[in-house]
Amino acid sequence: MDQDTTTDNVMSQADRNSESSRLVSPNATTRPSYLNILSNLLSLIFVGIITYCSFLNGITLFSFHPPLMAIGWLIIMTSAINAITPGDLATEWMPIRLRSARHWVLQLFGAILIAAGFLVIMSNKIINNKPHFGTLHAKFGLSSLIFMVGTMLGGIGALYSLKLKHYLPPIYTKLIHASVGLVTFSLGIATISCGLFSDWFAAKGEILQYTALVMVILVLLFTILRPSLKVYFRLRERLDNVN
Ligand code: HEM
Repeated sequence: MDQDTTTDNVMSQADRNSESSRLVSPNATTRPSYLNILSNLLSLIFVGIITYCSFLNGITLFSFHPPLMAIGWLIIMTSAINAITPGDLATEWMPIRLRSARHWVLQLFGAILIAAGFLVIMSNKIINNKPHFGTLHAKFGLSSLIFMVGTMLGGIGALYSLKLKHYLPPIYTKLIHASVGLVTFSLGIATISCGLFSDWFAAKGEILQYTALVMVILVLLFTILRPSLKVYFRLRERLDNVN
Protein backbone atom coordinates (compact mmCIF):
# COMPACT_ATOMS: atom_id res chain seq x y z
CA MET A 1 0.00 0.00 0.00
CA ASP A 2 1.56 3.39 -0.94
CA GLN A 3 1.88 6.11 1.66
CA ASP A 4 -0.83 8.36 0.19
CA THR A 5 -3.46 5.65 0.43
CA THR A 6 -2.53 4.94 4.02
CA THR A 7 -2.68 8.61 4.97
CA ASP A 8 -6.01 8.96 3.12
CA ASN A 9 -7.45 6.21 5.28
CA VAL A 10 -6.30 7.82 8.48
CA MET A 11 -7.50 11.34 7.62
CA SER A 12 -11.13 12.16 7.17
CA GLN A 13 -12.15 14.66 4.47
CA ALA A 14 -13.39 17.02 7.19
CA ASP A 15 -9.95 17.04 8.81
CA ARG A 16 -8.36 18.15 5.58
CA ASN A 17 -10.90 20.87 5.00
CA SER A 18 -9.40 24.26 5.82
CA GLU A 19 -12.63 25.66 7.33
CA SER A 20 -13.09 22.81 9.80
CA SER A 21 -9.42 23.05 10.73
CA ARG A 22 -9.80 26.45 12.37
CA LEU A 23 -8.99 26.64 16.05
CA VAL A 24 -10.30 30.19 16.36
CA SER A 25 -13.74 31.06 15.13
CA PRO A 26 -13.73 33.72 12.37
CA ASN A 27 -16.96 35.21 13.84
CA ALA A 28 -17.01 37.32 16.96
CA THR A 29 -19.71 35.29 18.70
CA THR A 30 -18.03 34.88 22.08
CA ARG A 31 -18.84 37.21 24.95
CA PRO A 32 -15.93 39.62 25.54
CA SER A 33 -13.63 38.60 28.40
CA TYR A 34 -12.69 41.30 30.87
CA LEU A 35 -10.27 38.83 32.43
CA ASN A 36 -7.73 39.58 29.67
CA ILE A 37 -7.77 43.26 30.59
CA LEU A 38 -7.42 42.46 34.28
CA SER A 39 -4.55 40.12 33.41
CA ASN A 40 -2.82 42.86 31.33
CA LEU A 41 -3.25 45.29 34.23
CA LEU A 42 -1.72 42.81 36.72
CA SER A 43 1.17 42.16 34.30
CA LEU A 44 1.85 45.90 34.01
CA ILE A 45 1.90 46.32 37.80
CA PHE A 46 4.18 43.25 38.12
CA VAL A 47 6.59 44.61 35.50
CA GLY A 48 6.57 47.98 37.31
CA ILE A 49 7.45 46.34 40.64
CA ILE A 50 10.17 44.10 39.13
CA THR A 51 11.73 46.97 37.16
CA TYR A 52 11.72 49.24 40.23
CA CYS A 53 13.39 46.53 42.36
CA SER A 54 15.93 45.74 39.61
CA PHE A 55 17.19 49.32 39.33
CA LEU A 56 16.70 50.35 42.97
CA ASN A 57 20.36 49.89 43.92
CA GLY A 58 21.87 51.17 40.68
CA ILE A 59 22.27 49.77 37.19
CA THR A 60 24.17 46.51 36.74
CA LEU A 61 24.08 43.94 33.93
CA PHE A 62 21.78 41.78 36.10
CA SER A 63 19.27 44.67 36.43
CA PHE A 64 18.09 44.01 32.87
CA HIS A 65 17.33 40.28 33.31
CA PRO A 66 14.11 40.40 35.40
CA PRO A 67 12.45 43.30 33.48
CA LEU A 68 13.28 41.88 30.03
CA MET A 69 11.91 38.46 31.02
CA ALA A 70 8.83 39.88 32.71
CA ILE A 71 7.97 42.17 29.76
CA GLY A 72 8.60 39.39 27.23
CA TRP A 73 6.66 36.70 29.07
CA LEU A 74 3.93 38.56 30.92
CA ILE A 75 3.09 41.45 28.59
CA ILE A 76 4.11 40.46 25.06
CA MET A 77 3.47 36.71 25.25
CA THR A 78 0.12 37.10 27.05
CA SER A 79 -0.98 39.65 24.42
CA ALA A 80 0.10 37.20 21.71
CA ILE A 81 -1.99 34.43 23.29
CA ASN A 82 -4.94 36.79 23.86
CA ALA A 83 -4.87 37.76 20.16
CA ILE A 84 -6.05 34.29 19.19
CA THR A 85 -8.25 33.66 22.21
CA PRO A 86 -12.03 33.85 21.78
CA GLY A 87 -13.54 36.90 23.48
CA ASP A 88 -10.43 39.10 23.59
CA LEU A 89 -11.84 42.61 23.92
CA ALA A 90 -8.87 44.32 22.23
CA THR A 91 -8.74 42.11 19.13
CA GLU A 92 -12.17 40.47 18.77
CA TRP A 93 -13.17 42.96 16.03
CA MET A 94 -10.16 42.05 13.86
CA PRO A 95 -10.43 39.59 10.97
CA ILE A 96 -8.92 36.21 11.88
CA ARG A 97 -5.94 36.67 9.53
CA LEU A 98 -4.98 39.92 11.24
CA ARG A 99 -5.30 38.33 14.68
CA SER A 100 -3.16 35.44 13.56
CA ALA A 101 -0.54 37.85 12.18
CA ARG A 102 -0.67 39.85 15.43
CA HIS A 103 -0.15 36.58 17.34
CA TRP A 104 3.04 35.53 15.57
CA VAL A 105 4.53 39.01 15.25
CA LEU A 106 4.07 39.59 19.00
CA GLN A 107 5.42 36.12 19.75
CA LEU A 108 8.54 36.84 17.70
CA PHE A 109 9.03 40.19 19.42
CA GLY A 110 8.56 38.55 22.84
CA ALA A 111 11.10 35.86 21.93
CA ILE A 112 13.67 38.54 21.00
CA LEU A 113 13.22 40.25 24.41
CA ILE A 114 13.44 36.89 26.19
CA ALA A 115 16.57 35.89 24.25
CA ALA A 116 18.10 39.24 25.26
CA GLY A 117 17.16 38.58 28.92
CA PHE A 118 18.80 35.15 28.67
CA LEU A 119 22.01 36.56 27.13
CA VAL A 120 22.14 39.14 29.92
CA ILE A 121 21.97 36.56 32.72
CA MET A 122 24.36 34.16 30.96
CA SER A 123 26.93 36.95 30.43
CA ASN A 124 26.48 38.14 34.00
CA LYS A 125 27.22 34.66 35.32
CA ILE A 126 30.22 34.19 33.01
CA ILE A 127 31.68 37.59 33.99
CA ASN A 128 31.20 36.85 37.71
CA ASN A 129 32.45 33.29 37.34
CA LYS A 130 29.28 31.80 38.87
CA PRO A 131 27.95 28.28 38.16
CA HIS A 132 25.21 27.88 35.54
CA PHE A 133 21.76 26.32 35.91
CA GLY A 134 22.24 25.49 39.58
CA THR A 135 18.95 26.77 41.02
CA LEU A 136 15.39 25.58 40.42
CA HIS A 137 14.66 28.94 38.75
CA ALA A 138 17.57 28.47 36.36
CA LYS A 139 16.53 24.89 35.52
CA PHE A 140 12.90 25.88 34.89
CA GLY A 141 14.21 28.88 32.93
CA LEU A 142 16.29 26.73 30.61
CA SER A 143 13.36 24.32 30.08
CA SER A 144 11.02 27.25 29.32
CA LEU A 145 13.44 28.56 26.71
CA ILE A 146 13.77 25.13 25.05
CA PHE A 147 9.98 24.75 25.02
CA MET A 148 9.63 28.27 23.64
CA VAL A 149 11.86 27.39 20.67
CA GLY A 150 9.84 24.17 20.13
CA THR A 151 6.55 26.08 20.28
CA MET A 152 7.81 28.62 17.76
CA LEU A 153 8.86 25.89 15.33
CA GLY A 154 5.41 24.33 15.84
CA GLY A 155 3.94 27.77 15.12
CA ILE A 156 5.61 27.77 11.69
CA GLY A 157 3.98 24.37 11.13
CA ALA A 158 0.59 25.79 12.20
CA LEU A 159 1.04 28.79 9.87
CA TYR A 160 1.68 26.45 6.94
CA SER A 161 -0.65 23.71 8.19
CA LEU A 162 -2.48 23.44 4.85
CA LYS A 163 0.80 22.71 3.06
CA LEU A 164 1.49 19.95 5.61
CA LYS A 165 -1.97 18.40 5.28
CA HIS A 166 -0.62 15.28 3.57
CA TYR A 167 1.37 14.48 6.69
CA LEU A 168 -0.98 15.70 9.45
CA PRO A 169 -4.49 17.20 9.26
CA PRO A 170 -4.28 20.99 9.89
CA ILE A 171 -6.48 20.82 12.97
CA TYR A 172 -4.00 18.49 14.68
CA THR A 173 -0.99 20.64 13.71
CA LYS A 174 -2.78 23.58 15.34
CA LEU A 175 -3.93 21.61 18.38
CA ILE A 176 -0.37 20.37 19.02
CA HIS A 177 1.00 23.92 18.66
CA ALA A 178 -1.66 25.32 21.02
CA SER A 179 -1.17 22.59 23.64
CA VAL A 180 2.64 22.81 23.65
CA GLY A 181 2.29 26.62 23.72
CA LEU A 182 0.12 26.47 26.84
CA VAL A 183 2.64 24.18 28.55
CA THR A 184 5.45 26.58 27.54
CA PHE A 185 3.61 29.59 28.93
CA SER A 186 2.92 27.76 32.21
CA LEU A 187 6.60 26.75 32.48
CA GLY A 188 7.58 30.42 32.13
CA ILE A 189 5.21 31.36 34.95
CA ALA A 190 6.72 28.59 37.10
CA THR A 191 10.17 30.04 36.28
CA ILE A 192 9.12 33.56 37.26
CA SER A 193 7.56 32.22 40.48
CA CYS A 194 10.84 30.49 41.38
CA GLY A 195 12.67 33.75 40.56
CA LEU A 196 10.50 35.45 43.20
CA PHE A 197 12.03 33.07 45.77
CA SER A 198 15.63 33.75 44.70
CA ASP A 199 17.93 35.32 47.33
CA TRP A 200 17.85 38.53 45.31
CA PHE A 201 14.06 38.96 45.44
CA ALA A 202 13.62 37.42 48.90
CA ALA A 203 15.60 40.40 50.23
CA LYS A 204 12.71 42.69 49.16
CA GLY A 205 10.44 41.19 51.83
CA GLU A 206 7.79 38.48 52.13
CA ILE A 207 4.79 40.75 51.47
CA LEU A 208 6.17 41.78 48.09
CA GLN A 209 7.17 38.19 47.32
CA TYR A 210 3.70 36.76 47.94
CA THR A 211 1.84 39.69 46.35
CA ALA A 212 3.93 39.24 43.20
CA LEU A 213 3.35 35.47 43.31
CA VAL A 214 -0.44 35.90 43.49
CA MET A 215 -0.25 38.33 40.55
CA VAL A 216 1.62 35.94 38.26
CA ILE A 217 -0.63 33.02 39.20
CA LEU A 218 -3.69 35.13 38.32
CA VAL A 219 -2.09 36.15 35.01
CA LEU A 220 -1.49 32.45 34.30
CA LEU A 221 -5.09 31.46 35.09
CA PHE A 222 -6.68 34.38 33.19
CA THR A 223 -4.46 33.73 30.17
CA ILE A 224 -4.72 29.98 29.79
CA LEU A 225 -8.32 29.37 30.90
CA ARG A 226 -10.08 30.11 27.60
CA PRO A 227 -7.40 28.68 25.28
CA SER A 228 -7.30 25.44 27.34
CA LEU A 229 -11.08 25.07 27.06
CA LYS A 230 -10.84 25.80 23.33
CA VAL A 231 -8.23 23.06 22.85
CA TYR A 232 -10.23 20.63 25.00
CA PHE A 233 -13.53 21.16 23.14
CA ARG A 234 -11.89 21.04 19.68
CA LEU A 235 -10.10 17.82 20.58
CA ARG A 236 -13.27 16.23 21.94
CA GLU A 237 -15.17 17.29 18.82
CA ARG A 238 -12.49 15.67 16.62
CA LEU A 239 -12.47 12.46 18.65
CA ASP A 240 -16.30 12.31 18.57
CA ASN A 241 -16.11 12.65 14.75
CA VAL A 242 -13.62 9.80 14.53
CA ASN A 243 -15.73 7.43 16.69
C1 HEM B 1 10.24 33.39 32.13
C2 HEM B 1 11.09 34.30 32.52
C3 HEM B 1 12.50 33.96 32.96
C4 HEM B 1 13.38 33.05 32.44
C5 HEM B 1 13.17 32.14 31.24
C6 HEM B 1 14.59 33.11 33.25
C7 HEM B 1 15.72 32.34 33.04
C8 HEM B 1 16.85 32.34 33.84
C9 HEM B 1 17.98 31.47 33.67
C10 HEM B 1 18.12 30.40 32.58
C11 HEM B 1 18.88 31.77 34.65
C12 HEM B 1 20.21 31.08 34.91
C13 HEM B 1 21.32 31.42 33.97
C14 HEM B 1 22.55 30.61 34.31
O1 HEM B 1 22.54 29.83 35.26
O2 HEM B 1 23.55 30.78 33.59
C15 HEM B 1 18.31 32.83 35.45
C16 HEM B 1 18.91 33.40 36.56
C17 HEM B 1 18.32 34.28 37.42
N1 HEM B 1 17.06 34.85 37.28
FE1 HEM B 1 15.78 34.48 35.77
N2 HEM B 1 14.43 34.05 34.24
C18 HEM B 1 13.16 34.60 34.10
C19 HEM B 1 12.60 35.59 34.89
C20 HEM B 1 13.16 36.09 36.07
C21 HEM B 1 12.51 37.01 36.95
C22 HEM B 1 11.13 37.66 36.72
C23 HEM B 1 13.36 37.21 38.00
C24 HEM B 1 13.15 38.08 39.20
C25 HEM B 1 12.10 37.95 39.97
C26 HEM B 1 14.55 36.42 37.78
C27 HEM B 1 15.65 36.37 38.61
C28 HEM B 1 16.80 35.63 38.38
C29 HEM B 1 17.93 35.56 39.29
C30 HEM B 1 18.03 36.26 40.63
C31 HEM B 1 18.89 34.75 38.68
C32 HEM B 1 20.30 34.38 39.21
C33 HEM B 1 20.20 33.27 40.21
C34 HEM B 1 19.83 31.94 39.58
O3 HEM B 1 20.55 31.40 38.72
O4 HEM B 1 18.74 31.44 39.92
N3 HEM B 1 14.39 35.75 36.58
N4 HEM B 1 17.08 33.16 34.93
